[in-house]
Amino acid sequence: MAGAMKLTQIALAILPSLLALSVSAQTVASQAYTPMSGACPSNFSLVRMAGSSADNQTLSPSESAYIQTRKSQVLPQAWKSYLANVQATKVSLPDYVTNILEGNSTQNPTLGIATSGGGYRAAIFGAGVLNALDARNGSSASAGTGGLLQAATYLSGLSGGSWFLTSLVQADFPTIQDLVFGPTSGASASNNTNAWGGWLAQYDIFAPNDNPITDVEYIKDLVEELQGKRDAGYVVTFADFWARALARHFANGTTVTNFFDESVTHGAGVLFSGVANTSSFTSHSIPFPIVIADLDSPSQNTSNVEAGDYIPLTNPLIEFNVFEMGSFDPVLSAFTPTKYLGTQNTSVCVTGYDQSSFVAGSSSELFNEYNLTNILNATLGSVISVFESLLPQEGVELDVASWPNAFYGVSPDTFIDSNQKNLNLVDGGEDGEVIPIQPLLVKTRDVDVIVAIDATSDVNNFADGSSLIATQNRTTFFPSAYSFPPVPNTLSEFTAQNLSTRPTFFGCNTSTTAPLVIYLANGGPPHNGEAPLTNTSTAQISYQAAQIQAMLDQTFLITTQGYPANSSEAEDPEWPACLACAVVDRARNRTGVDRSGVCASCFERYCWDGDVTTGAPSSTSKASRVNVVMPVLGAVLASAFAVSAM
Ligand SMILES: *[C@@H]1O[C@H](CO)[C@@H](O)[C@H](O)[C@H]1NC(C)=O
Ligand SMILES: *[C@@H]1O[C@H](CO)[C@@H](O)[C@H](O)[C@H]1NC(C)=O
Ligand SMILES: *[C@@H]1O[C@H](CO)[C@@H](O)[C@H](O)[C@H]1NC(C)=O
Ligand SMILES: *[C@@H]1O[C@H](CO)[C@@H](O)[C@H](O)[C@H]1NC(C)=O
Ligand SMILES: *[C@@H]1O[C@H](CO)[C@@H](O)[C@H](O)[C@H]1NC(C)=O
Ligand SMILES: *[C@@H]1O[C@H](CO)[C@@H](O)[C@H](O)[C@H]1NC(C)=O
Ligand SMILES: *[C@@H]1O[C@H](CO)[C@@H](O)[C@H](O)[C@H]1NC(C)=O
Ligand SMILES: *[C@@H]1O[C@H](CO)[C@@H](O)[C@H](O)[C@H]1NC(C)=O
Ligand SMILES: *[C@@H]1O[C@H](CO)[C@@H](O)[C@H](O)[C@H]1NC(C)=O
Ligand SMILES: *[C@@H]1O[C@H](CO)[C@@H](O)[C@H](O)[C@H]1NC(C)=O
Ligand SMILES: *[C@@H]1O[C@H](CO)[C@@H](O)[C@H](O)[C@H]1NC(C)=O
Ligand SMILES: *[C@@H]1O[C@H](CO)[C@@H](O)[C@H](O)[C@H]1NC(C)=O
Repeated sequence: MAGAMKLTQIALAILPSLLALSVSAQTVASQAYTPMSGACPSNFSLVRMAGSSADNQTLSPSESAYIQTRKSQVLPQAWKSYLANVQATKVSLPDYVTNILEGNSTQNPTLGIATSGGGYRAAIFGAGVLNALDARNGSSASAGTGGLLQAATYLSGLSGGSWFLTSLVQADFPTIQDLVFGPTSGASASNNTNAWGGWLAQYDIFAPNDNPITDVEYIKDLVEELQGKRDAGYVVTFADFWARALARHFANGTTVTNFFDESVTHGAGVLFSGVANTSSFTSHSIPFPIVIADLDSPSQNTSNVEAGDYIPLTNPLIEFNVFEMGSFDPVLSAFTPTKYLGTQNTSVCVTGYDQSSFVAGSSSELFNEYNLTNILNATLGSVISVFESLLPQEGVELDVASWPNAFYGVSPDTFIDSNQKNLNLVDGGEDGEVIPIQPLLVKTRDVDVIVAIDATSDVNNFADGSSLIATQNRTTFFPSAYSFPPVPNTLSEFTAQNLSTRPTFFGCNTSTTAPLVIYLANGGPPHNGEAPLTNTSTAQISYQAAQIQAMLDQTFLITTQGYPANSSEAEDPEWPACLACAVVDRARNRTGVDRSGVCASCFERYCWDGDVTTGAPSSTSKASRVNVVMPVLGAVLASAFAVSAM
């Protein structure tokens, strides 16, 4: 080894040939990534005002129709199947639990599942939890937790959670094993170039090859795939580059055999709005998917940025669902059709902007956390130079995801980006709310109960509850739009009561206008004494199959173990029953029946007791989350681009 050669130097060395290549014909991926424009449909409406107060908030007609059909035609049977799995654990349930879950659709609970950010760690932990809730996995069914996923009405994800969520729904809802590792039979196994090929996590997101020259070629390919979009007049940024890299892992169209093959599209053209065409969606068999990103605004009030975070909690949170993109925050309360994202008037309509990988790429766009002039330039300078040479653009901010602003001129008194031509979106967790709970708190969505999956990196790459505090803080800014049950105000209380190392219920005895929250954190190893496997660094951007499988298996334990009444036991045999008690609790309240039987003791064990412990609020943990993650990520990016050469 004759020392390390920086990729930057390689890139600069071959820059002339890269530039020569810039006049070459567009790749199929570049063409499929390029938005198209045409006449708008007659009747086209660019913006839907969604109502800013609890009494006039409205869902899109398409969402309402999906939810209504799912609730009436799919969920009654899904709840019955779930109930059968709970009953098979032989813990006697109060009659009301059985009645509610066997009852007709008007009695069934409305369940939302939110799965957090945290890179691959969060994608894997979220996938592992959903696997344990998935009726299709026999072990999950036997554990008495399987079936809850099929019974959920909503599923939200952000950042690493959005990698998981978008890959899952665009691939037509395969099992978690098939999602993560690729199907062992069917279209992909037969080399169909548009089929699902698995996460292919063994390939590093930035530097997938052992050979640095191949990696430079790869980076050049990714940048070239943005040429069509840039030539069509759109701003392209580092987020587009990131999206094209993510597409190789989280969109259909890439397999081990074609990973470096530029004759296929690698998921370009797979649209988030296109999820509505998958058979699992048209049959209303999947929870309604929602992805969250933060808005990075030139007019934001920086005094509302929590210590260690990047985006003010008061900035509107942007949600993408398959029908609409926008925000229920009362400062905007407006939506635009997802299928026509990129459109800015009612005559020329853009399609193809809502690439699934760009939605995931926007939700995980954390490059604005780096200072472009030093850290980002030092670690990704080679990419930036290739970018600037191949895709010169005037005055473009490279470290955000740029979306043409359909809300130009909307609510100028309250919407901070009303006068901006483009919305700059960044990682959905940058305001401190790393679990995408907010869309499930929208009052008109009437969610009864939320499974909040938290794989945030707070301390030692485990979660400590800070995301729930941020949600609580954020909700106080917008009380007309959202309700959230009380959670501790301080991290020290989470820690003192072990609220993140066991499943915890919030909102047990508070107003039923807010949903009950079942908090399931990646807060520590399982109780059976296994060494921790699920606290890998956010910055780890490649995994071998064996490591992921071990993490999924450990997450299965964490999800199914519960919180034993007797601390000498590793598992709570009543946990599946307790989970069912929590799931039906708001519906129980509506029927006017009191908690009883095992549910009464479950609630004593699993509910946060609401006591405020004394002692100074801990701020160390929150600060360390960012201070640890940032340099680590920086170092990994640096090492990805400072590969060792012969
Ligand atoms: C136009 O919109 C109205 C109201 O949304 C709807 O009833 C009508 O069917 C639409 N017409 C067309 C041609 O799509
Ligand atoms: C909803 O109500 C608020 C305040 O009550 C009002 O300002 C707003 O215009 C209403 N929005 C719609 C879409 O009706
Ligand atoms: C469903 O349950 C509700 C509430 O108990 C009841 O009012 C309604 O009649 C039931 N509908 C059917 C079809 O059984
Ligand atoms: C898929 O393609 C690879 C490489 O071209 C080939 O080895 C393999 O046999 C193909 N698989 C099927 C099922 O055709
Ligand atoms: C992705 O591939 C799977 C089969 O592997 C297919 O069922 C699904 O419809 C595809 N999704 C898209 C968006 O093409
Ligand atoms: C979804 O299906 C509709 C109707 O068949 C079609 O017009 C549309 O292009 C499809 N969208 C995608 C992204 O495939
Ligand atoms: C910014 O936020 C702070 C703290 O919430 C508030 O006191 C101040 O009025 C806000 N400033 C503006 C210009 O909105
Ligand atoms: C970025 O780094 C440069 C050089 O160290 C410094 O001058 C600038 O203030 C930094 N910018 C931010 C936003 O921290
Ligand atoms: C990045 O660094 C190079 C020198 O290493 C410098 O020429 C260039 O201007 C920097 N770019 C930015 C955006 O600061
Ligand atoms: C929540 O708000 C409290 C009180 O303003 C503040 O001390 C704390 O830092 C905030 N925490 C988060 C995570 O937003
Ligand atoms: C069920 O989940 C377990 C735990 O991760 C896993 O080992 C097993 O392969 C899964 N089974 C199926 C059929 O997906
Ligand atoms: C329903 O919840 C409300 C608010 O917590 C409470 O006052 C009421 O007693 C509950 N009803 C039942 C039957 O539990």
